Amino acid sequence: MDTNKKIPVILDGDPGHDDAIAWVLAKACNEFDIKAITTVAGNQTLDKVTYNARRIAALLKIDIEVARGRKVPLLSDLIIAPNFHGESGLDGPELPEPNHEESELSAVEMMAKVLKESKEKVIIVATGPLSNVAALLLSHPELKEKIEIISIMGGGLRNGNWTPAAEFNILVDPEAAYTVFHSGLPLQMSSLDVTEKALVYPEEFDIIRNLNNPVAKVVAEWFDFFFIHVKSLGHKGATLHDPCAIMSLIHPEIFTIKDYYVDVELSGNYTRGTTVADYLGRTGNKPNCKCVVGLNRDKFVQLLIDACKQYEGWKI
Ligand code: BDR
Ligand code: CA
Repeated sequence: MDTNKKIPVILDGDPGHDDAIAWVLAKACNEFDIKAITTVAGNQTLDKVTYNARRIAALLKIDIEVARGRKVPLLSDLIIAPNFHGESGLDGPELPEPNHEESELSAVEMMAKVLKESKEKVIIVATGPLSNVAALLLSHPELKEKIEIISIMGGGLRNGNWTPAAEFNILVDPEAAYTVFHSGLPLQMSSLDVTEKALVYPEEFDIIRNLNNPVAKVVAEWFDFFFIHVKSLGHKGATLHDPCAIMSLIHPEIFTIKDYYVDVELSGNYTRGTTVADYLGRTGNKPNCKCVVGLNRDKFVQLLIDACKQYEGWKI
């Protein structure tokens, strides 16, 4: 990535602790110019995740109006994840109240506006169900050429986390995921294969806490909350799913990335919402996705700590 030029980016998510930490990374890095934050129902209801997104924007001093997106998936009923993220969708530390009104534009209108107005191609980082992104592609196919890449947290090449076969973000809106994976656009998928290895251990929460700046403190407390549930699943650290979608763009060198054809299962007694990657090369289809499947965990955590240091001296 050419680090001299800032790349316009749209952050689309359902915050959510790990979405929030992904946005902490996006704001801290020099590579991105955050043009929009858009929300989608997923971890919690649309009202709750939109309020969370506005509070995160205030915490990170991202000076834009958040645009709310789809309240429900394209075809199926909404599934939410209060067991992971709490009743608010972002339980744990206190956050500043929003300091901007919500945008009058919907998420799709906001994304379309950013794409239309941008001279350069725009990166979309999608860390929730793909409902907004699919709605954008279906309603504005003419804007596809303005998209540089869609970096997704979602799916699993060999397992799920919500059903044995399906990962949460894809399971919530499989038709949206299908639309995105069939869009022909450059895609990068940080699936459970990498994100369940992107572990941050409790002693590392404390390194972040002890950086002694207000954002790092909140990040450590998000870890504290998130880890309660993740630990009960047998993980030794907090699984940083969504931050992989940002980190794999800015530091691809610490990740293992493979080109595969990926499709989305829309039916099946047990497999709706499964991402199927043709890692054996049997379908005859050309790869449509960069699949992020592994990482150097120690470097990942160090880069996360470095990002949290960027907030030194901040006052909230
Ligand atoms: C994904 O589901 C959500 O709970 C997280 O925010 C992440 O995007 C992990 O399966
Ligand atoms: Ca998410």
